[in-house]
Amino acid sequence: MAQEDVFKKIVSHCKEYGFVFPSSEVYDGLAAVYDYGQNGVELKNNIKEYWWKSMVLMHDNIVGIDSAIFMHPTIWKASGHVDAFNDPLIDNRDSKKRYRADVLIEDQMAKYDEKIEKEVAKARKRFGESFDEAQYLSTSPRVKEIADKRDALHERFQKAMNDMNLEELRQIILDEEIVCPISGTKNWTEVRQFNLMFATEFGSTAEGASKVYLRPETAQGIFVNYLNVQKTGRMKLPFGIAQIGKAFRNEIVARQFIFRMREFEQMEMQFFVQPGTELEWFPKWKETRMRWHQALGFGAENYRFHDHDKLAHYANAATDIEFRMPFGFKEVEGIHSRTNFDLSQHEKFSGRSIKYFDPQTNESYTPYVIETSIGVDRMFLSVMCHSYTEEQLENGETRVVLKLPAALAPVKLAVLPLVKKDGLPEKAQEIINDLKFHFNCKYDEKDTVGKRYRRQDAIGTPYCVTVDYDTLKDDSVTIRFRDTMEQERVKISDLRSIIEDKVSIASLLKKN
Ligand code: GAP
Repeated sequence: MAQEDVFKKIVSHCKEYGFVFPSSEVYDGLAAVYDYGQNGVELKNNIKEYWWKSMVLMHDNIVGIDSAIFMHPTIWKASGHVDAFNDPLIDNRDSKKRYRADVLIEDQMAKYDEKIEKEVAKARKRFGESFDEAQYLSTSPRVKEIADKRDALHERFQKAMNDMNLEELRQIILDEEIVCPISGTKNWTEVRQFNLMFATEFGSTAEGASKVYLRPETAQGIFVNYLNVQKTGRMKLPFGIAQIGKAFRNEIVARQFIFRMREFEQMEMQFFVQPGTELEWFPKWKETRMRWHQALGFGAENYRFHDHDKLAHYANAATDIEFRMPFGFKEVEGIHSRTNFDLSQHEKFSGRSIKYFDPQTNESYTPYVIETSIGVDRMFLSVMCHSYTEEQLENGETRVVLKLPAALAPVKLAVLPLVKKDGLPEKAQEIINDLKFHFNCKYDEKDTVGKRYRRQDAIGTPYCVTVDYDTLKDDSVTIRFRDTMEQERVKISDLRSIIEDKVSIASLLKKN
């Protein structure tokens, strides 16, 4: 199945099984805003819990905060967001559609990569078993021609973005003959800068109202609380502050479902270190974060680092952790060495001293910062994409199963009475009443047991137990395992010990 079709199926599965709904759907939705349903919110909470515990519980020098979404507007001046948090946008005059100029060019580069992949596929077919991909890639004149074009475009694009040369971005679009996907024409406007922050009015009277922003990242809430936390927690460097919360960006091109949203959630951690040690901490955090991802068991081959060659003026190292989505490797997390830029800026704009007094050296200085920043929704999408599986069964049927890591699954155990009578529902309920204190259990009595298993497979429930007539006699149930579909007879009193460890967040943390 084409990857595009797989992705469409995942999106509709998310809706059909109560994971993600388009926001305000009865009013035809609101672009790039989504709501999480009854199963989605459980999965999302589990992802957040996994992250929070890995930061705050597993490190004795990291604490958490929860800062407000509204912040003093000068914060965004100091951070550079008012002046520089822009995307270059371009309109097509015929379709009246608006695009990000950089995204149009990136898509064009991806087309060159697709062309190379097609050449490789053709050659593989031609040469059969003896095909050596690496050799082909390095010797084929056709591949070289395409790769040269892509590299030249990449270089020109990087330079234009670095200089924020809007005319050059437009010229690239014209030279590459990029057309609007809707109208098919090259009738483009000029490229303009577009600030991504949402603004609103604060205060009740028109005269007294001031402009405030919905935060575009949670990080600034950490920076402006650095001193509060350091002093009240008597924290010593190096130490970290973690936060999970909503962020808002008026994305011009909102697409790929929950990959790029206008309202989303971030999990960010700022790690404050002694100046000069930041480049020792940076690789440590890269490794730590990659281990966190890989502990989910999705396979190391599905992750890669993308180190940034061109850095923001305040950064001295930056990388993305990318995950293989159905639409290619995409950024899920960013790790940045942000120097002392943010704290220094807040010091300058607020006029207050924001320093650290180092008792060992008897000096005061502005700490440097390593930031780890991951989008909850992107993480959710990567988990969904990797877990969605269609299996061909021996009887010819197709089984749709979400092979979620058990610790992230919304429901851990479904309890199913064989029939809706003779005391079986009551017995099932008894099991739930006992186990619901330890993990999320659900009761289901509608339809055949086979159908109920399928429903649980579709939401990724790792364990189902069936209560039958023998249960009433010997307190045993049939437990069915989601991935293997194997069934075993076990004692009700053993259920907790069979399940609890495997579905706990601790089981993931121990793999880190
Ligand atoms: N404080 C640094 C910062 O915000 P970023 O690379 O702009 O860095 C960090 O964002 C992460 O937030 C990204 O790796 C991504 O997972 C998530 N993210 C950013 N914009 C997003 C959007 N529009 N929709 C969903 N997630 C987004």
